[in-house]
Amino acid sequence: MNNSKNLIDTEQRLGAHNYKPLDVVLTRGEGVYVWDTDGKRYLDCLSAYSAVNQGHCHPKILAAMVEQAGKLTLTSRAFRNDQLAYLYEELAALTGSHKILPMNSGAEAVETAIKAVRKWGYEVKGVPDGKAEIIVCADNFHGRTLSIISFSTDPDARTGFGPYTPGFRTVPFGDADAFAAAINENTVAALIEPIQGEAGVIIPPTGYFKRVRELCTENKVTLILDEIQTGLGRTGKLLAEEHEGIEADVTLIGKALSGGFYPVSAVLSNSEVLGVLKPGQHGSTFGGNPLACAVARAALKVLTEEGMIENGEKMGDYFLEGLRSIRSNIVKDVRGRGLMMAVELVPEAGGARQFCYTLKDHGLLAKDTHENTIRLAPPLVITKSQVDWAVEQIEKTLA
Ligand SMILES: Cc1ncc(COP(=O)(O)O)c(C=O)c1O
Repeated sequence: MNNSKNLIDTEQRLGAHNYKPLDVVLTRGEGVYVWDTDGKRYLDCLSAYSAVNQGHCHPKILAAMVEQAGKLTLTSRAFRNDQLAYLYEELAALTGSHKILPMNSGAEAVETAIKAVRKWGYEVKGVPDGKAEIIVCADNFHGRTLSIISFSTDPDARTGFGPYTPGFRTVPFGDADAFAAAINENTVAALIEPIQGEAGVIIPPTGYFKRVRELCTENKVTLILDEIQTGLGRTGKLLAEEHEGIEADVTLIGKALSGGFYPVSAVLSNSEVLGVLKPGQHGSTFGGNPLACAVARAALKVLTEEGMIENGEKMGDYFLEGLRSIRSNIVKDVRGRGLMMAVELVPEAGGARQFCYTLKDHGLLAKDTHENTIRLAPPLVITKSQVDWAVEQIEKTLA
């Protein structure tokens, strides 16, 4: 069984159909490119939902992974390992965090933050037991666990999975007045994406986050920013909060924290919030393991030392300019920040997915989202000529 049709048939037959991938079977990746089993090359404009910001199979992350894999992979947190302290130190220096809790997937980081702020609410803020509320935004995407989908407003993500976890209050994204009105004495936190990625790269109005930050401070509400997708250079800054001139109390990162090699996520916070977790109250067998730490350390190092964030900012501006220059009567909107971009098509265009298939035929991989939007998020190592080539393919496809 080696041709792509057989592989696809087997996946369809034996796998749960919880995804509907484009029918391209990839076998190799390097930098911004991936190759399918027939040897065809594609420019990856999804970057595994922003997990491979550093480009596919970055040689320095690979070397760190191989070296650590040959030494020690997993100790569990029952014992200490000689990589975790370095990861803490390097992450703290980079982000200014005082306390860090390592996990694996993004959803686990979100769950961890929810647990921590609830406990903080009871023990520090004085919220009556069982009454803690967290404000979330409509059209959010924070992962797939039961508590997280309990406050999703996407029927596909939520329907049929009840009973749901209570304690969440939903407000429209970008509406500071609605946010203010949702705060009460039991509000312990707000959980927000700086830019809503899965919703189609939705950028909030200028000033929204400044006001949210003020309201959180005034009302002793912990501001949690989910930077699992926007963080680590994706928007042209280390963290997307920098565009807003604010600082979150709790920041969630994941995805590119490992450059796509391994699931690594982290909750970054001040001492007060993560300080409420005591031994035995939270954990994960794999969280903070030496292999994950070594990979994450290398992933952060190349991100900063190789100028990827600055390149992402420059190439993002250039890419957006290119996209905005495309003349097509089916384009409704082009938006983005850094290399987190979207082209929204008019509903009459018949859906974004068919265009993703045409782009694939032209050698560019992108992902449709919410029917009419094509998301574009290439690795941060993309060059000017590669952007030119990508814009050409997109122009050809939308013409
Ligand atoms: C903003 C945001 N939060 C959380 C997650 C969940 O991360 P994971 O799929 O690693 O659980 C995602 C994944 O797309 C995301 O975009």
